[in-house]
Amino acid sequence: MTRRELIDQFFSFYTDRGHAVIAQASLVPVADTSVLFTTAGMHPLIPYLLGDTHPDGTRLVNVQRSLRTTDIEGIGDATHGTLFEMLGHWSLGDYWKREAIEWSYRFVTEVLGFSKERIAVTIFEGDEAKGIGLDAEAKTIWESIGVTRIVPLGADNFWGPVHAAGPCGPTTEIFVYLGDGEPSSDSLPGGPKDREWVEIWNNVFMEYDKTADGTFVPLKQKNIDTGVGLERVLMTVNGQSSIYETDPYQPLVAAISSAELAHADRDVRIIADHIKAAVFLIADGVLPSNKDRGYVLRRLIRRAVRASRAVGFNAWPLAVEAVVGAYGEDYAHLLEAQAEIERIITQEVEQFSSSLERAIRELHKQLTRLPNPDLERAAEIVFLAFQSHSLPLEMGYEVLRDEGIVHNQPAFEAALDRRLAKHREISGAGQEKKFGGHGLILDTGELKAGSEEEVAKVLRLHTATHLVQAGLRHVLGEHVQQKGSDITPERLRFDFTHPEKLTPEQIAAVEAWVNDVVARDLPMQFVELPLEEAQRSGALHFFGHKYPSRVKVYFVGESLETAVSKEFCGGPHVERTGIIGTVKITKEQSAAAGVRRIKAIVGE
Ligand code: ALA
Repeated sequence: MTRRELIDQFFSFYTDRGHAVIAQASLVPVADTSVLFTTAGMHPLIPYLLGDTHPDGTRLVNVQRSLRTTDIEGIGDATHGTLFEMLGHWSLGDYWKREAIEWSYRFVTEVLGFSKERIAVTIFEGDEAKGIGLDAEAKTIWESIGVTRIVPLGADNFWGPVHAAGPCGPTTEIFVYLGDGEPSSDSLPGGPKDREWVEIWNNVFMEYDKTADGTFVPLKQKNIDTGVGLERVLMTVNGQSSIYETDPYQPLVAAISSAELAHADRDVRIIADHIKAAVFLIADGVLPSNKDRGYVLRRLIRRAVRASRAVGFNAWPLAVEAVVGAYGEDYAHLLEAQAEIERIITQEVEQFSSSLERAIRELHKQLTRLPNPDLERAAEIVFLAFQSHSLPLEMGYEVLRDEGIVHNQPAFEAALDRRLAKHREISGAGQEKKFGGHGLILDTGELKAGSEEEVAKVLRLHTATHLVQAGLRHVLGEHVQQKGSDITPERLRFDFTHPEKLTPEQIAAVEAWVNDVVARDLPMQFVELPLEEAQRSGALHFFGHKYPSRVKVYFVGESLETAVSKEFCGGPHVERTGIIGTVKITKEQSAAAGVRRIKAIVGE
């Protein structure tokens, strides 16, 4: 089945059932400035889910380009794409669970051809904290159809809201079996054999409005919001082992590598994924920069450059052409912007490649001096390349791994951790109580005076420190890493990697960025996540540091995905950025080789 055939079949199935085909929206939300990207088909429809009248009626169907960056570290697996297409259909206060479930079942079995035995579904098991119970209605409907694998799950089966508040509801997801024949009786999504299943279909029963105070109240109308992963459906229907084998990816993968199993190569996949996303972003008007959407675009291109080194790829315009070729028929704006997209990507690639080359050359020079370093020396070399050339530690590690010098990542990270600890001792930052902490007096019990005013002030400075770090990275770039932090009731002090003195313009730009976030009065929130998930979220932390298996991630913004700052941190913080007051950088100086120090105060 091709992408074109799948879209046609989906549209005809749902138009036969009274749905109107609606146009899709840009990746850059038009009305909603609080989120960076359109992450699902329901996003542009939020006003109608809340009760506005849609001009095309109460039954809608479409395909929507969507962009999600939460899984960026996991890209390269078989089923996750940064930019993907979502087939969707909606009931705006029209039909409800029975129709939605029965139709999805008919489409999956009759149109896509999966037998009942190769399907499993999940339903919402309920959540006391939300005051919402098991979705018994969905369970009964699935049972009446004769599906036997029905798995009640928690958080994964509640969708939304996109923001801190808004429409949301329990879901039932359809999984298909990836193996040959029939699944064994103990094989279920969410169980030990979860990997044998892939989710292709999400039916959301959008009947709640999460209010600003966190309670769930019934929406004015009951809606259906369905999202179907187009690439995943193609892959499973065609019996392919990953989305990279499906027809929209094929020319792109071929443009990146002619190797026989190119589609299975992780670096090829990363390049394909990131370039495809970059093409769509630029076509929707995003330009590389150090801020917000532009920064996401820049990060995608840079990560693609990193991966391209491993596979010896550099025909970027050909890759762009392959994306435009595969999607141009449906997305005329890609065709129109093709030359501009090629120019922007090529320029960004060239800039980043040359600084990367310099850093890696230096690392190789060190390696020639010391061809077979032991673990401690290897860590030393990576550390030096980081310190003097801002080569990200992860990349230093990757070079050593690719050279066959380091095989054991945890052992290397431990060695690197020791090296970093030594550095902190030398640079005096070792006084910090905790690695990764801000030397926060509240944490360490050093706040002897401890008046309420002082505590309040320290909290403001602590949150301001997170914003300053985010601001520095926006203005100066991703190489900025925390080297030390210290907070007293008077001021914050923050040490970070950067090769040269900051110009007055850069200082002003950091202040402006931070004060803009203060003015937006965004919430400071935290989530506690399993370590790996926290790392995947893109939250700042120390590479190589031993963290516990669950960590707190503090983030500034409505959601983790859209946060303007996220860091591993123990807290405490102020609740909203507006409480901080105006942030002013009062001093900028050198702290050690390649490390700058700033001090800043917060206004009353
Ligand atoms: N909005 C739902 C999703 O994105 C359908 O999975």
